[in-house]
Amino acid sequence: MGTASQAGTALVTGASSGIGAAYADRLARRGHDLLLVARDQDRLQRLATRLEKKYGVSVEPLPADLSETRAIERVAKRLRGDQQISLLVNNAGVSLSGSLVESDRHSVAALLQLNVLALTLLSSAAAVNFSMAGRGGIINLGSVVALLPERFNAVYAASKAYVLSLTQSLHAEIGDRGVQIQAVLPGMTGKEIWQRSGASHDPSLDAMMMDAGDLVDAALRGFDQGELVTIPSLPNSADWQSLLQARMQLAPNLSHKLPAARYA
Ligand SMILES: NC(=O)c1ccc[n+]([C@@H]2O[C@H](COP(=O)([O-])OP(=O)(O)OC[C@H]3O[C@@H](n4cnc5c(N)ncnc54)[C@H](OP(=O)(O)O)[C@@H]3O)[C@@H](O)[C@H]2O)c1
Repeated sequence: MGTASQAGTALVTGASSGIGAAYADRLARRGHDLLLVARDQDRLQRLATRLEKKYGVSVEPLPADLSETRAIERVAKRLRGDQQISLLVNNAGVSLSGSLVESDRHSVAALLQLNVLALTLLSSAAAVNFSMAGRGGIINLGSVVALLPERFNAVYAASKAYVLSLTQSLHAEIGDRGVQIQAVLPGMTGKEIWQRSGASHDPSLDAMMMDAGDLVDAALRGFDQGELVTIPSLPNSADWQSLLQARMQLAPNLSHKLPAARYA
C-alpha cells in the first residue's frame, strides 16, 4: 500500500463514463487518490487500474447504485467518516427523453432519487466532514438547462435547477468554514447520457458538443479561481453576473405585508 496523497482523496460519483471519468483522470493527474462510484464494477476496475498505472495514485472502486437508499447511505457513511477525503464530485446523473406526460413514473422517481436525493445526501455528508475539518471542496454537476427550463424535458431541467439552488445555498451556509463549493453547468457534452435516456441522436447538435476532458479542464480552472458557478461554454462571464444582479434587485421586494397594487 502506498502513502496517502497530500492532495487528499477525491470521491467522484458516476466515474465510469463521460464527465465523471474525465474528472477521475484530471484529479488523479493533480495527485488526488480516488474513490470511484458507479454501478458498473468492471468498468470502474478497468479505470482504476489504468489511472493507478498512469499517475501512481491509489484508486479504489466503490460500486454503488445511488438510486437505492441503502447504497446512498453506504457512500454517505464513508464521506462522513473518512478524514482523508478532501473533495466530493457529485457527478452521477441521468436524463429522460420525452415530456413529463410521456414519462413513466418509475423513471421519473429514479431520476429524482439520483439527481436530487443522492446528490443532496452526499453533499450533506461531505459538508459535515469538511466543515468540521475547516477544509475541502464539493463540486456539483448541474446543467445549463437549469437556466433554460423551457428548452428541455421538465424533470431533468428541474433536477438541475435544484442542483444550482442547493449549491448556492450551501455556499451561503458553509462557505465561510473553509469549504469550497462549486456548481458546474455543462452544455452538450458526452453522448452516452442521451443514448442511455433513449433520446435519438441529432447530428445537427454535434457542433455544440464539448469534449468531456475540455469541459473538466475548464471547470477545474473555474474551481481554482474560486468560482461558485462555472459555465464552461459561456464566453462572457459578465452575462452571468448581470443575471445574478437582476435577481438580487428583486430581493427587497419579494416579501411585503400587502400584495402589490396590481392585485388590489
Ligand atoms: N452529457 C451532457 O451533455 C451533460 C450536459 C449537462 C449536464 N450533464 C451532467 O453531467 C453529469 C455526467 O453526465 P455524463 O454525460 O458524463 O453522463 P454518462 O456518460 O451517462 O455517465 C453517467 C455516470 O453516472 C453513473 N450512474 C448512472 N446511474 C447511476 C446510479 N443509479 N448509481 C450510480 N451511478 C450511476 C454511470 O455509471 P453506471 O452506469 O456504471 O452506474 C456513469 O458513470 C450528469 O449529472 C449530467 O446530468 C451532462
